[in-house]
Amino acid sequence: MNEEISQIVDKLTLEEKASLCSGDSWMSTEAIDRLDVPSINVSDGPHGVRIAEKSKVKKENKITTCFPTASAIASSWNRNLVREVGKALGRECRNLGVHVLLAPGINIKRTPLCGRNFEYYSEDPYLSGELGAAFVNGVQSQGVGTSLKHFACNNQETDRMLVSAEVEERPLREIYLAGFKRVVKGERPWTVMCSYNKLNGTYTSEHPYLLTEVLRDEWDFEGLVVSDWGAVNDRLKGLEAGLDLEMPGPSEANDRKIIEAVRSGRIEESVLDRAVERILRLVFKATNCAQEELEGGVDAQAHHELAKKVASESIVLLKNQNGLLPLDENNLSSLAVVGRMAKEPSLEGGGSSEVELSKVDTPLEEIKKTVDDKIQVSYAPGYPKSDRVDEEMAEEALETGKEADVVVLFAGLPRGIESEGYDRENMKLPEIQLELIQKISEVQSNTVVVLNNGSPVSTNAWIGNVPALLEGWLLGQAGGGAIADILFGKVNPSGKLAETFPVSLEDNPSHINFPGENGKVLYGEGLFVGYRYYDEKNIEPQFPFGYGLSYTSFDYSELNLDQKEMDDQEDLTVTVTVKNTGDLAGKETVQLYVGHEDPKLTRPPKELKSFKKVALKPGESKTVEFTLRGRDFSYYDPSREEWVVETGVYDILVGSSSRDIRAKSTFRLKSTRDFEKTLTKDNSLKEWLENEEARKLLKQIFPEGEGDRPEGTSEWMKNLPLKKLTSLSQGKITEEMIEELIESVQN
Ligand code: BGC
Repeated sequence: MNEEISQIVDKLTLEEKASLCSGDSWMSTEAIDRLDVPSINVSDGPHGVRIAEKSKVKKENKITTCFPTASAIASSWNRNLVREVGKALGRECRNLGVHVLLAPGINIKRTPLCGRNFEYYSEDPYLSGELGAAFVNGVQSQGVGTSLKHFACNNQETDRMLVSAEVEERPLREIYLAGFKRVVKGERPWTVMCSYNKLNGTYTSEHPYLLTEVLRDEWDFEGLVVSDWGAVNDRLKGLEAGLDLEMPGPSEANDRKIIEAVRSGRIEESVLDRAVERILRLVFKATNCAQEELEGGVDAQAHHELAKKVASESIVLLKNQNGLLPLDENNLSSLAVVGRMAKEPSLEGGGSSEVELSKVDTPLEEIKKTVDDKIQVSYAPGYPKSDRVDEEMAEEALETGKEADVVVLFAGLPRGIESEGYDRENMKLPEIQLELIQKISEVQSNTVVVLNNGSPVSTNAWIGNVPALLEGWLLGQAGGGAIADILFGKVNPSGKLAETFPVSLEDNPSHINFPGENGKVLYGEGLFVGYRYYDEKNIEPQFPFGYGLSYTSFDYSELNLDQKEMDDQEDLTVTVTVKNTGDLAGKETVQLYVGHEDPKLTRPPKELKSFKKVALKPGESKTVEFTLRGRDFSYYDPSREEWVVETGVYDILVGSSSRDIRAKSTFRLKSTRDFEKTLTKDNSLKEWLENEEARKLLKQIFPEGEGDRPEGTSEWMKNLPLKKLTSLSQGKITEEMIEELIESVQN
């Protein structure tokens, strides 16, 4: 294919080449009919296939399933399910003639307020990377490309087209790029989409470090980089930095700039050819795949059922006092469903990811179906669509709720609060809903609250008044049935939070640096994003990362490491036995965190490095095995500009959540590389004294005096950089002596 592509490039005129560098419409690329270069279609993503207004897809073939959004599906911690969703979306794309799905979004959740958090997976790069990889694998297995987005540091919507994310290299590498690296290296997405924002002062759409040095040179990415829609700032700088395709198109003014720049010699034609080749490679790969028959077609009902299955694994049981849940339809005579969202749920957030809905299962209808005629189900909306207080509605809900055996109260964020393009203002539920929760809990002790939102809401003010709470996310078209299944125990909840729910917004690590000012947002918390911060500061979250209850219980035992000492070229096998000690079958996500006991550079107390979800029947035990490699213990050292594994003692922490560690063991890791620092005149006397050779030489040049010098000098003195000894010894130690010392030690 490379040969054919080179031949086409040779035949293209300069104008044709430039025209290929931007789309031919909102959602498709430019064709060159003369040379049989077709146009291909792209479509959003991520939780369904969106058919944009002027899209050229085969609309007559429309089967589009609205799956749970990313924050929900991440709570399933189930790579297989995410892969299945990817596959289903890939098939729907094939059926519609979509060649590249603009997904997944794997940006890190730096703040609970980011308007697009519902479209992202997690605050943790390992979890985001693993799920992003499963998604890409699923979609691409069907011969459809993906667009891994938004590269990088698009962690807020406020000012997203201008703001500069000011991020130090270490958190950039360890937190914000790590998930992208995992997906790019492991799954080879066909395309990567740059973000709108700047990173450390440069637009990501023209960032040579991001788009070439890191993405291509370090991670060997061979695909195409597409701009987010309208993210191009300076087209020529973008082209040089590695941005191939500008979207949407056509972008005639920028195409012209490219032509002029090549003509005037401002840009080498080879730079343009590089982008054109990547565009052609994508186009031909996509069209070749599309020609293959899609065996079995698209089964809309099977996709609906998959959406329900995913939804039921995504729901997180946050509280279940006295085992109020699951409800037993044989022991209840009446149930009140309260809250408009039971009938009109929020299924997805706003913006480019919105999928047109053709079928919706509402919680209210599904609850009624589940209980059949066995229980009397009453319904009261409780609050109007608007934020207006409606006394009559609230009163009716109270009456309904008071008389029933149990109330299931639906509360959440109304449509319009969570969306692309802007951030949330706070973490609160609407005031009218808060009042309703308060009043209902006063008259009904058996109240179950079901939340309907894409990112954390504060529950602190009322959680103490309700015995049971389910996080019901934005569950897509089949979520209603999943909620009913969980409420009545047809499915045992197994979701775990992929992000921390803080007690209050102020606790969040980004709080004093969000959303930034004067065009900059400082990522001042550095590495300490999400649970890394709550752990380090010892702040109790409302619900920690990795948390989620079950209707059964699990016991952890026999944590075993196959080695107690190893080097960084070896693998460590960790096993732990997990037993279902309750009466119901259930699934547990076993989480493995690593801590480093005495690192040279600051590290978070622990970091997620692996997880496995296991299904266990009552009484059943399974041994869960994890393999850790040397790189799982590494961190990025900006002074060396590389990932390093330090010799030291490491903790292996296995648990049911980040705050519920059930077993701990330690082992010693030996680095096979020599990370001795080169000593310079900026190093302190203390650091110099740690070197045996230097210590001897220092003794010789140190002025005579009382005590054992220089070891015996004061702490104050020892903390001085070596070079300061010249002036502070008042000339007794000369610059020449220092130079000589450095030379002798370095040789
Ligand atoms: C969004 C992208 C999306 C694109 C195309 C942009 O506004 O940021 O995520 O893929 O539009 O719809």
